[in-house]
Amino acid sequence: MKKNMDMSRRGFLKMAAMTGTAMCIEPALNKVTAAEKALNGQRQATNNIPAGMAAVRTQRTLGSGKAAFTVSAMGYGCMGLNHNRSQHPSEDKEIALVHEAVERGVTLFDTAESYGYHVNEKLVGKALKGHTGHVFVSSKFGHKFVNGVQVKTEEDSTPANIRRVCENSLHNLGVETLGIFYQHRIDPNTPIEVVAETCGELIKEGKILHWGMCEVNADTIRRAHKICPVTAIQSEYHLMHRTVETNSVLAACEELGIGFVPYSPLNRGFLGGLINEYTRFDTTNDNRHTLPRFQPEAIRANTRIVEVLNAFGRTRGITPAQVALAWLINKRPYIVPIPGTTKLSHLEENLRACDITFTAEEMDELEKAVTAIPVVGSRYDKLQESKIQK
Ligand SMILES: NC(=O)c1ccc[n+]([C@@H]2O[C@H](COP(=O)([O-])OP(=O)(O)OC[C@H]3O[C@@H](n4cnc5c(N)ncnc54)[C@H](OP(=O)(O)O)[C@@H]3O)[C@@H](O)[C@H]2O)c1
Repeated sequence: MKKNMDMSRRGFLKMAAMTGTAMCIEPALNKVTAAEKALNGQRQATNNIPAGMAAVRTQRTLGSGKAAFTVSAMGYGCMGLNHNRSQHPSEDKEIALVHEAVERGVTLFDTAESYGYHVNEKLVGKALKGHTGHVFVSSKFGHKFVNGVQVKTEEDSTPANIRRVCENSLHNLGVETLGIFYQHRIDPNTPIEVVAETCGELIKEGKILHWGMCEVNADTIRRAHKICPVTAIQSEYHLMHRTVETNSVLAACEELGIGFVPYSPLNRGFLGGLINEYTRFDTTNDNRHTLPRFQPEAIRANTRIVEVLNAFGRTRGITPAQVALAWLINKRPYIVPIPGTTKLSHLEENLRACDITFTAEEMDELEKAVTAIPVVGSRYDKLQESKIQK
């Protein structure tokens, strides 16, 4: 192979995808693979973090074999930086916050086409400009848009739409390769095999490193994984919503060697303990006002659960948000939560949860205390719930 130290990142990663992690770029470079290069970059960045600084210093591997993807043990959910989580700081402040996350070891940033229809992707692209040597952005396809407006009753995972979204995401984010490209919701009119095949082609073309799906059932995961190995499932999972433990999704991930990325790991902020029945959500930029679980009566009832987290955390010197995140981190070694925040203080608090270890007895105690309290209100409205695979 021609020695070319200026090889583009896409070319580099494309070959990594085609040949797996054993790709050699040049014998003289001691067989440094793209995956190893990224991992070394992550490790180097981690080593540079000053002692005592709130940071994520450990990595986790999502997926296995050729689909293995090593990232920071906690990612950053970028949606709420400017979409669906009410008020947010100025763009400069948000960009500075993303830079703080990079400096503190976060290497997995999560966004989607649908978060403000390109608006969130563009912000993340601006923020990560110059940092994408060792950090990765995941995005999502599959919602149907006509002239920039979402058609909420339909999904679109046709190969043409997947490719269109991919090109837009790469452009908006200013990267040559997406870390993970997820199907946002299942499209009943496009078999998952077709989706998997299309994502497999995008991997070969070097446009995405890995792929995954959101809110799918175990059967879909198995069918998809046969066509193109899946790196991660991204579904809602936290102390107030543990369906993936009972519907075989987590078991399928474990059996097939697929990673799991819990979204809304703080239950959209609720488990952080700062939301109460008087909290008003911005009806123009926050979906929580439409969700049954965020109606005042439900919030009032569910505050008992936050109180359990408060009590559990008080004797250990940690906050309810840290209890919630550390519970996920301690649950399985292939789990990488992606909490979102607009505040440095919360970012620091959340990242410190990566260093908290619970014993099996503590996990049991916490789970028993939480499950003793019934959760009031469903997480989604009827239309959104109908898009979740049971
Ligand atoms: N695949 C999907 O279908 C899907 C669906 C939803 C979300 N997601 C992904 O998951 C990410 C996170 O989800 P999310 O934003 O819905 O929920 P989340 O991470 O559970 O909660 C975010 C909310 O929690 C608050 N918060 C963060 N840290 C806190 C702390 N330490 N103490 C108190 N409050 C705290 C934030 O407010 P402050 O800004 O005040 O900190 C923010 O409003 C999103 O960014 C998105 O990437 C994916």
